[in-house]
Amino acid sequence: MAINKAWGARFKKKTASSVEAFTESISFDQRLYKYDIEGSIVHARMLAECKLITNSERDAIIKGLKEILNDIESGKFKFKTELEDIHMNVETALLKRIGNVAKKLHTARSRNDQIALDLRLWVRDQIQEVVSAITNLQLGMVLKAKVFGKGILPGFTHLQHAQPILIGHYFLAYVEMFERDRTRLIDGLKRLNKSPLGACALAGTTLNIKPEMTAKALGFDSPFENSLDAVSDRDFCLEFAASLAIISMHLSRFCEEWIIWSSQEFDFLDIDDSYCTGSSIMPQKKNPDVLELIRGKCGRVYGNLFSLLTLMKGLPLSYNRDLQEDKEAIFDSSDTVKDCLLILGELIKKTAFKIDNTERSCQKGFPDATGIADYLVKKGIPFREAHEIVGKIVKKYSKGYKELSDISIKEFKQFSPLISKDIYKTLGARNYIKQYKSHGSTSPRLVQKRLSAWEKKLKR
Ligand code: ARG
Repeated sequence: MAINKAWGARFKKKTASSVEAFTESISFDQRLYKYDIEGSIVHARMLAECKLITNSERDAIIKGLKEILNDIESGKFKFKTELEDIHMNVETALLKRIGNVAKKLHTARSRNDQIALDLRLWVRDQIQEVVSAITNLQLGMVLKAKVFGKGILPGFTHLQHAQPILIGHYFLAYVEMFERDRTRLIDGLKRLNKSPLGACALAGTTLNIKPEMTAKALGFDSPFENSLDAVSDRDFCLEFAASLAIISMHLSRFCEEWIIWSSQEFDFLDIDDSYCTGSSIMPQKKNPDVLELIRGKCGRVYGNLFSLLTLMKGLPLSYNRDLQEDKEAIFDSSDTVKDCLLILGELIKKTAFKIDNTERSCQKGFPDATGIADYLVKKGIPFREAHEIVGKIVKKYSKGYKELSDISIKEFKQFSPLISKDIYKTLGARNYIKQYKSHGSTSPRLVQKRLSAWEKKLKR
């Protein structure tokens, strides 16, 4: 007696229930239903075109599939573990609904090219979703920079005060990073956008089929070139997972900064109460948990990338069941990063810069010192000498004077006779920033220009 499964004819014994539970993927691949059905509809059309089924068979199959889609979307459909995966769940439901004609749908197809197709379609849509979430976050940053962008902030290297910068310049740095992330995702589409349908199990088929027809109908640039490759590689998932890991890294850096800046020591930010949480023991606490969680979630996004890389590294061609393990990792990375992009956008909207504090902070640590060196260079002194002169000034006055602008001209002249009164034009964070003019610098004029250009571009 054969067992009651699509592949059951050669089996004498029922599958152990523990094996069914262990091998199933329906609990997580059910979210691919839309793509699975879309692929099947297109496949049925191709089969009819190639005279492998009749037009009325095609119509019955498509009608049945559309009804199943409806049932799933309205929550009426019951997914069954014993039917393993989304493919068998849909196919079995189709058989029940339209009878034996349903058995023709799997002509010239295997679950191996079917899952490769479903996943590609899913990743392709996810890329669009992540791209729009990034655009949204970038716009949020630009709009925040419109409000606080003219405020000044100590720029850091080594987490030590380095040179003052505009808050607008700070935000633009992240807008650029996320722009690379956005375009990196879009670049991946070029390689992803080839249909694997028609590769069948691994070697293609002896039947006359038209993979270029299904590829076109599903919006792919072309069909696969090699059937073994089509069913067995998941590099498009890896590329997506890697892009997501990089986004997560950028998010995490941003959050780390804001966590530090919202501490009592810095006190640069005022995050709205509705985007912070408290402590169950210390009544005075207001914690930046959202930022910390975004930073923390970076761990699982990196982890997923490593799961996928490790999953793939030992697989001989072509399909192996190991590949079922790709889904949860890539689903999780995409869900996690989209959530993080969204919530960070909201939090940024709800945060104000304490610009009095950020500006006051610029008075510490002589962040305008390089300005004096540049000043001396303009007067003909080699930079290394200028550097040394300013170093000596800082050494002498670092105790006792609050800022370089407090040093009198008489005192300055002891270090270099070339220093004259116009030195004060570059001293103090505000003055110093005004002096910037180089490409991509914190120059107020350039920052303003860049912000306007971004706003225009992102609102489009
Ligand atoms: N659930 C499987 C996966 O995710 C679908 C393909 C199964 N193919 C097979 N020959 N068992 O990869």
